[in-house]
Order: sequence, then C-alpha cells, then structure tokens
Amino acid sequence: MPVIVVSLVVLLLAAAGAFAIALGNSGPDPAKWLLHQTGFYALCFLVATLGVSPVARAVRKPLLVLWRRPLGLAGFFVASAHVVVYATVYQGLLFAAIMEDIAKRPYILVGLLAWLMLIPLAATSTRNARRRMGIAWARLHRTVYVIVPIAVVHQGMAQKADIGQTLLFLAITGCFLIERIVRAHR
Ligand code: HEM
Repeated sequence: MPVIVVSLVVLLLAAAGAFAIALGNSGPDPAKWLLHQTGFYALCFLVATLGVSPVARAVRKPLLVLWRRPLGLAGFFVASAHVVVYATVYQGLLFAAIMEDIAKRPYILVGLLAWLMLIPLAATSTRNARRRMGIAWARLHRTVYVIVPIAVVHQGMAQKADIGQTLLFLAITGCFLIERIVRAHR
C-alpha cells in the first residue's frame, strides 16, 4: 500500500509538472522552474523519510515504518531527476562546465555530496540487501541523518529569496534529529 500511494504521488507530481510546462504555467524560465520543483519535492520526501520513525513511535503505530522505504526511494528518484535537469538542460552534459560551476557555486558541491551519499542507500534498499548486510545495513542507513541536513544546507545556500522555507526545513529536520539523539542517549 505505501509503495502504491508514494508511486502515485510521484507520478502525479511528474504529470502536473509536464502539464504546467506544456500549458506555459512554469514561468519565464521553465528549466529553472523544473530545477526548483524537483529540488523542493526531493527534499520534502527526504525530510518525510526522516520523520517516519519518530511519528510512528509518537502515535504508537509501528506499521507506519512501512512508509520509510518508499518515501526514501521517492526522495532519491526525484533528487536524481533534479540532477538530470541540472546536468542536461543547464550544463549540456559538459563535464568541464559542471566543474566550472561547482568552483563558482559551492552549494552545488554540497548538493552533489548529499546525492552521492544517497546512492548506496538506494542500492541497498531491498529486503534481500538488508538481510545479507545485517548490522552494516543499519549503520549505512543511519547516514540518512547526515544526508538530509546536508541537503537542507544545499537548499539554504541555493535559495536566496525565501529564507522562510529554509527555516521550516531546518526546524522540521532539527526536531527529527533531536528526537533521534535523545533516544540514543536514553
Ligand atoms: C539530495 C540531493 C539534492 C536535493 C534534495 C536538492 C534540493 C534542492 C533544493 C530544495 C533547491 C532549492 C530550490 C528552490 O529554489 O526552491 C535546490 C537548488 C539547486 N540545486 Fe539541488 N538538491 C540536491 C542535489 C543537487 C545536485 C547534485 C545538484 C547539481 C549537481 C544540484 C543543483 C542545484 C542547483 C543548480 C540549484 C539552484 C537553482 C537556482 O536557483 O538556480 N542539486 N536543490
């Protein structure tokens, strides 16, 4: 059920994006709009992933953890779409241009770090990998508590206009991290 619902949400977002671009509702620069939309929704999915366990514990509904994997994978796929838009539409797949841009705008390196760190998590998201890796799987997947803050920093550095959105992402992520730290020290 969570897999179906999350997949439908991702498909709906993709369809809404395609319609907005086709109907000319994506502002004067559709590529920039697409980069913003994919970045925003990727971060929403990732922050939601971080929140699944604390919310499941708070409302005493352990089965809610079944939402964690689909939400995390959705975050990874939408972040990958964000990277694809950046690398193709913005940089024409030119490695030198990407390197030059990274030197000029360090927040791109920060985003890249978050995305690269997500790859091993997505690659080991199957039940089989979890069973095979045992404790190493849990350790690896705990890096999500580092990845999401890095992604929030990237958003904050990239987004100059709306500090409110950054503060909201920071506040929500901060609450989930504090819950995790408090629980670890109990
Ligand atoms: C987990 C990975 C990532 C997440 C969650 C993410 C999320 C975001 C968010 C939320 C924004 C701000 C959008 C807005 O202004 O509303 C953004 C901007 C941006 N991101 Fe990422 N990002 C990630 C990785 C990357 C990577 C790997 C690259 C490039 C290689 C990248 C390139 C950019 C660029 C160029 C912008 C600025 C757009 C502009 O205002 O010109 N991002 N990202």
